[in-house]
Amino acid sequence: EVVREWSGRLQLEQTLSKILHIKEVIIVPGNVDTNTNATMLLSQEAAKFLESILSNDKIVAVTGGSTIASISNFVQDTTKWKNLMFIAARGGVGKDVTLQANTIVSLFSNKTNGSYRTLYMPDSLSEEAYTTMKKEPFIQEMMDLYEKTSIIIHGIGDAEEMARRRNSSEEEIERLKENGSVSEAFGYYFNDQGEAVHRIRTIGIQLKQLKNIEHLLAVAGGAKKAKALLSYFKQAPEQTVLVTDEGAANEMMNII
Ligand code: F6P
Repeated sequence: EVVREWSGRLQLEQTLSKILHIKEVIIVPGNVDTNTNATMLLSQEAAKFLESILSNDKIVAVTGGSTIASISNFVQDTTKWKNLMFIAARGGVGKDVTLQANTIVSLFSNKTNGSYRTLYMPDSLSEEAYTTMKKEPFIQEMMDLYEKTSIIIHGIGDAEEMARRRNSSEEEIERLKENGSVSEAFGYYFNDQGEAVHRIRTIGIQLKQLKNIEHLLAVAGGAKKAKALLSYFKQAPEQTVLVTDEGAANEMMNII
């Protein structure tokens, strides 16, 4: 019984990695929408994968959100790495600091004997502030670090849910709907064709930089995210590895 379940899952992993055009899909049992055990398994599996690709002198960029925040709990305490650096992929989001990339990088670095860099700024900047900020030396330094990044760990969210979490106005939410936004990652909103239809004006890693990064680890589960995942993966770099759950995997198969 167990073996059959596993072989079914392996099949599903392979089918989905072909459909999504990415390197690998890893599926854990359950559905994070309804099952907290699945959340734990998802984080555990993501931590295991991360540990398998870490090596000395690497720069790892990290996004925020509850999924990525929980991964650090499952990374083993170790001093075996030299010069690991975790950097926030973008400024903050919302009021809950525990879900911000800035907090999460410190958690990862504590576990792995690494260092970290934060990026504190509002999530949405005015045009003027954005232009001025970009010239600041500490921002330039972050931009250089993004160029040297070789691993990214990131979340993927449903567009409307993310807009609400960011306290976007009803007007903005309406605009996102008009644009056909379905998913959100890295501060970009994507439609069902995977086109970036909107971007939050904030300092952070650029979409075009992702394709040069050696390892992209996307972690997102739950049937509710199935549409968002299908949207984001219409454009995701092919070296991406997705860690997800059965809930999202089965729902994606239902939709396509
Ligand atoms: O806000 C950071 C972020 O990674 C978003 O880009 C993504 O949509 C979201 O978090 C995912 O959050 P969660 O893991 O809580 O669903």
